[in-house]
Amino acid sequence: MVNQEQNFSSKFLFLAASFLLLVLLKYANCASFDEAGDQLAYSSTEYGGEMEGGETWTMVQKSGNQFVVNGQPFYVNGFNTYWLMVFAADQSTRGKVTEVFQQASAVGLSVCRTWAFNDGQWRALQKTPAVYDEDVFKALDFVVSEAKKFKIRLILSLVNNWEAYGGKSQYVKWGKAAGLNLTSDDDFFSHPTLKSYYKAHVKAVLNRVNTFNNMTYKDDPTIFGWELMNEPRCESDPSGDKLQAWIEEMAVYVKSIDPKHLLQIGLEGFYGVSTPNRAQVNPNSYAQQVGTDFIRNHQVLGVDFASAHIYPDSWISQSISDAHIEFTKSWMQSHIDDAENYLNMPVVFSEFGVSAKDPGYNSTFRDTLIGTVYTTILNSTKKGGAGGGSLLWQVFPEGTDYMDDGYAIVLSKSLSTSNIVSLHSKRLNAFNSLCSWKCHWGCKKKHVLDNFQFHEEL
Ligand SMILES: *[C@@H]1O[C@H](CO)[C@@H](O)[C@H](O)[C@H]1NC(C)=O
Ligand SMILES: *[C@@H]1O[C@H](CO)[C@@H](O)[C@H](O)[C@H]1NC(C)=O
Ligand SMILES: *[C@@H]1O[C@H](CO)[C@@H](O)[C@H](O)[C@H]1NC(C)=O
Ligand SMILES: *[C@@H]1O[C@H](CO)[C@@H](O)[C@H](O)[C@H]1NC(C)=O
Repeated sequence: MVNQEQNFSSKFLFLAASFLLLVLLKYANCASFDEAGDQLAYSSTEYGGEMEGGETWTMVQKSGNQFVVNGQPFYVNGFNTYWLMVFAADQSTRGKVTEVFQQASAVGLSVCRTWAFNDGQWRALQKTPAVYDEDVFKALDFVVSEAKKFKIRLILSLVNNWEAYGGKSQYVKWGKAAGLNLTSDDDFFSHPTLKSYYKAHVKAVLNRVNTFNNMTYKDDPTIFGWELMNEPRCESDPSGDKLQAWIEEMAVYVKSIDPKHLLQIGLEGFYGVSTPNRAQVNPNSYAQQVGTDFIRNHQVLGVDFASAHIYPDSWISQSISDAHIEFTKSWMQSHIDDAENYLNMPVVFSEFGVSAKDPGYNSTFRDTLIGTVYTTILNSTKKGGAGGGSLLWQVFPEGTDYMDDGYAIVLSKSLSTSNIVSLHSKRLNAFNSLCSWKCHWGCKKKHVLDNFQFHEEL
């Protein structure tokens, strides 16, 4: 119970603090607030604005459970487009790369996750172990240099768990061709020769000198960070020890070549055997048996941020229902809480979406799902929590339908979705713009975020 007097004085302090905040922010020319409603309104000339202009394009870093750029917070509103390198490899489709960056940046998306692998397949980057197609590498160079033009940073994934674009099974095929006695695709995680193949690929990509701008990948701030593997699973060892050992070895290896960039594993986020009390958060009982372990895996030395994917339509039931939304909320909240309490790192929901092929699907549901993810992130952001951001699966430009697995969002054809994405970018940018605040006044970021929370609750 609060007595009237205390209530009055705390309200007064709230108002005074909020007024001060508004005045200072206006003075700092970072962001301003629309007092007519409870929604944050952002009034800067363009996304990124001065703080990301030209010479200040610097590496994303991590401070506690948040991302920072130039000492300012950096919350991620981003997307996936996995095929950029392959499209860039052909002059007739290269323009699609530019198109998707252009359309994404127009709604404020500023991070893109994409494949820096294509092993042994059509338009392979790596034709055989450590043998590269220079034209395809130049295509990846193009993707990296083009992203920068749109102020988009890239999360580059280094191998696939799945067979698409080669993956661990391609490494096993190479091993067998070299005469190794291999019995399972999961030998990828444990056989010394296959581990050496993977390391050679890591080394080749990280040390690549971009032919468009002469910048070595490992020094390029356009790269947000590296991802060890897309959705690693090691079903042959439900104890999780085999995958854990691989992550430990590879995280240190990546850091030995490139200590500057952030690193994530690429996990879907299932809770494993080390945390039996989290089993009920998993979408199903099978999830605990795939050899991954959200908390244990992310405690590995060298891993900077956590990931989780969100696919209720694939994990719970294909038919759309409210249960998908409820799952999304509790799944995200649990990972955000664990990132805060056990990992002290940001968590990025690196893939989420819904397939238009699902029974009961409509675009309203898709917007509701996206809105739920964004609200959950924002709720964390306001508290300075570990919800580091999210990446839509997936954004396509027009005319690439033949690559669509049902999840593609064509922004130019989906006005309502575009508006939701755009609004979220504006809201996050208000937090990301807490720059001059710190520069001019030397205040602690945490302090500022507290004030933001108060402001929104007024
Ligand atoms: C191949 O490895 C399996 C399991 O490790 C073993 O049982 C088998 O004898 C090996 N085969 C050869 C030809 O060495
Ligand atoms: C890259 O470096 C080479 C050799 O120093 C130089 O000839 C070339 O002009 C440079 N290219 C760019 C885009 O800076
Ligand atoms: C869209 O789908 C949801 C979930 O299946 C359903 O509740 C809603 O009525 C549908 N809306 C329209 C406009 O069809
Ligand atoms: C976000 O926080 C608000 C206020 O605390 C709450 O009402 C809402 O349910 C939360 N949204 C989600 C998606 O967690």
